[in-house]
Amino acid sequence: MELKSLGYVGVRSTDLDDWGSFATGLLGMQPVDRTSKLRSFRMDDRVQRLVVSADDGDGLGFMGWEVDQRVDLDRLAARLDSAGVRVSWGGRLLAEERRVAALIVFTDPAGNRIEVFHGPEIASDPFKPGRPITGFKTGPFGMGHVVLNVVDVDELLPFYRDLLGFRVTDFGLAPVKLYFFHLNGRHHSFAMVGSGRASFHHFMVELFSLDDVGQGYDVAQLEDGRIAYTLGRHTNDYMTSFYAKTPSGFFVEYGWGARVIDPATWEPHETFDGPSFWGHERLYLPEPQRSQLRNMRLDAAARGVRAPVTIDCPWLDAAIARS
Ligand SMILES: [Fe+2]
Repeated sequence: MELKSLGYVGVRSTDLDDWGSFATGLLGMQPVDRTSKLRSFRMDDRVQRLVVSADDGDGLGFMGWEVDQRVDLDRLAARLDSAGVRVSWGGRLLAEERRVAALIVFTDPAGNRIEVFHGPEIASDPFKPGRPITGFKTGPFGMGHVVLNVVDVDELLPFYRDLLGFRVTDFGLAPVKLYFFHLNGRHHSFAMVGSGRASFHHFMVELFSLDDVGQGYDVAQLEDGRIAYTLGRHTNDYMTSFYAKTPSGFFVEYGWGARVIDPATWEPHETFDGPSFWGHERLYLPEPQRSQLRNMRLDAAARGVRAPVTIDCPWLDAAIARS
């Protein structure tokens, strides 16, 4: 796989100040650059992961996907070019702005801006979180994941899967078409929701500690309307998370404890249990849609559907060791 992880995310926003307090006070990111047109944030040893740009609209600005080296960019650019996708090389100014060695830029068939880069700049000073958290799980798993609302999943599937090399992890066909893709051990770095409209659904960041998520949940509940999905656990990546409404209207999933998959042996498959084992009540949705999803998880729960149990028991460990 050329693309190895989600490196960074760019957001367009009409309100930079709200983003400043949201990203630091709730998410626990570190503010880095601050101008009248831009706010950028750190999550780890990289100098930036999230970039929020002043705009007259709100939504996804760009997704930044990482490759190992320059030759991977050449190879991908050539492949896109021969498939009829217009690719441009980011100039030195753009590379400096993104804090990377080099990048290429193109759009997907729905018009979403995609950047592919290599050589992220590493900070010389340690990450200082915006509130006390243990930290974000990034490294080989990347920044997290991006989920897009799309008009038609089938229209975009060949582009992401066959041309860019995203591997299907799993998919659900009801109540809407949902496709999840991986690039590394993270269950999904990218997903599409065939909701019939094009928009930025959410990006996800994963924390090292459940307490980071729970304490963030408390912070989020201080504001009316901040919580979009209550705390819950997903059936496919086993993530325990809540979703917060960002100042730009889309969501951030704030999670902990997702499974790690082995891409070498993983087989894509259809899923039938709905998105969550429990929780994730969608407070922002009207009741008919809420109850449809609620009934799916009550049904899954009634069938005893849950994540595999890991037992932390010294007595059992000793008994297994003896045998
Ligand atoms: Fe998610």
